[in-house]
Amino acid sequence: MSDALRIGIAGLGTVGAGLVRLLTENDDLIAARCGRRIEIAGVSARDRNKDRGIWPGRFDWFEDPRELAASGRIDVFVELIGGVGIAAEAVERALQSGKHVVTANKALIAARGAGLAAEAEKWNLALNFEAAAAGGIPIVKALREGLAGNVVSRVGGILNGTCNYILSQMEETGRSFADVLAEAQALGYAEADPTLDVGGGDTAHKLAILASLAFGTVPDMDGVYCQGIERISPVDIGFAREFGYRIKLLGIATMTARGLEARVHPAMIQLGTALADVMGVLNGVVTESSAAGSSVFEGRGAGAGPTASAVAADLIDIARGLRVPAFGVPSNLLRKAERAPLGEREGTFYMRFDVLDRPGVLATIASSLADKGVSIESMIQRGRAPDEKVAIVIITHEARESSVIGAIKAVEAAGAVVEPPCMIRMERL
Ligand SMILES: NC(=O)c1ccc[n+]([C@@H]2O[C@H](COP(=O)([O-])OP(=O)(O)OC[C@H]3O[C@@H](n4cnc5c(N)ncnc54)[C@H](OP(=O)(O)O)[C@@H]3O)[C@@H](O)[C@H]2O)c1
Repeated sequence: MSDALRIGIAGLGTVGAGLVRLLTENDDLIAARCGRRIEIAGVSARDRNKDRGIWPGRFDWFEDPRELAASGRIDVFVELIGGVGIAAEAVERALQSGKHVVTANKALIAARGAGLAAEAEKWNLALNFEAAAAGGIPIVKALREGLAGNVVSRVGGILNGTCNYILSQMEETGRSFADVLAEAQALGYAEADPTLDVGGGDTAHKLAILASLAFGTVPDMDGVYCQGIERISPVDIGFAREFGYRIKLLGIATMTARGLEARVHPAMIQLGTALADVMGVLNGVVTESSAAGSSVFEGRGAGAGPTASAVAADLIDIARGLRVPAFGVPSNLLRKAERAPLGEREGTFYMRFDVLDRPGVLATIASSLADKGVSIESMIQRGRAPDEKVAIVIITHEARESSVIGAIKAVEAAGAVVEPPCMIRMERL
């Protein structure tokens, strides 16, 4: 058997401790698959005395992850700290010191991935980040390797388990977003500060990475349109069901003739389709590619086991001597994609207008839509009592997004609504 691959793990939280457990439990199996052992040669975290259930005292302890990154005792630096502060410094130090890098850090790869990939290539080192998008689902490998012979036209799906859990619970129980979020926090499914999850930022990080892998473009976080699930109400979930749809937070990247369209927002998808059936904390990803057609991936996007599984796969690739450019093409070939303006996108839309049931209101809405060339496919009106709030719900035919937004603004400007209108994009994926 060849020499062991010596790794240093920085960050012993959910993922780091999960990785230590996985590598310990599956030690022999992994050694057989790699032809060499993977040996933990050093670890780093903030608190040396924290009980992590993994007995870190048996490994060399480094107070500073940057020191571990540069240590001559390791071949691979595994960054499981998170964020772009000290984690970024440590990763840079590791590459400059000739260490391969494995990271689960989506924020880092989305913000700095192209530069880090170039640095890794310069020294013929690996920069692997399977865990950074959709956790336990091997979607990075699928795009970079499994679908490498295809032109990929679209990638997207449900990339945040917390949001999917909240939306699933709202549908099952009829409870409000705030109620279900509080419960998810108590159960440990949502962070104390849930902004990155429910606001769509976490999905946007993952989408920026998947788009780069799919289209050979530089990760472009700022180019991702991002809207969260905070304003989704049980009322809209109920109407979606009546029309045969379910609301999910989707991240979708499409290469269009106008450029790269990358967007994160709640969307209605038809019941019975693969993604509509992805419930609870699960993630689901769909790719559309020239030869393979549509492929669907489903699984656990987060948690100690699934994320450690992805990190271990990256380590096994290095142990086996497999090297693939981080984003599937040499970094000097990664191109900067044009951003396709979202307003020019054509699609179908759900709109809810809460109005007072007075004569002329429906006519105002209909004429505002007609003026912008938006035609109605179906409509529901609920509630009849005079001077009480009623909901007028409309599904449009195919329309341009800027026209739909213009029509909604016109309805608001006409004073026809008593609450801000709700618009949800409808998606075929
Ligand atoms: N959790 C998931 O399910 C999941 C899924 C996919 C990807 N990821 C990514 O994996 C990474 C880690 O996530 P996590 O959930 O495991 O985070 P976590 O539980 O908060 O763990 C972070 C670890 O980093 C250590 N750390 C923080 N600052 C440090 C510093 N200055 N020096 C040394 N160590 C430091 C912490 O030390 P202490 O323990 O001593 O405080 C802790 O062990 C993130 O990039 C995250 O986005 C996580």
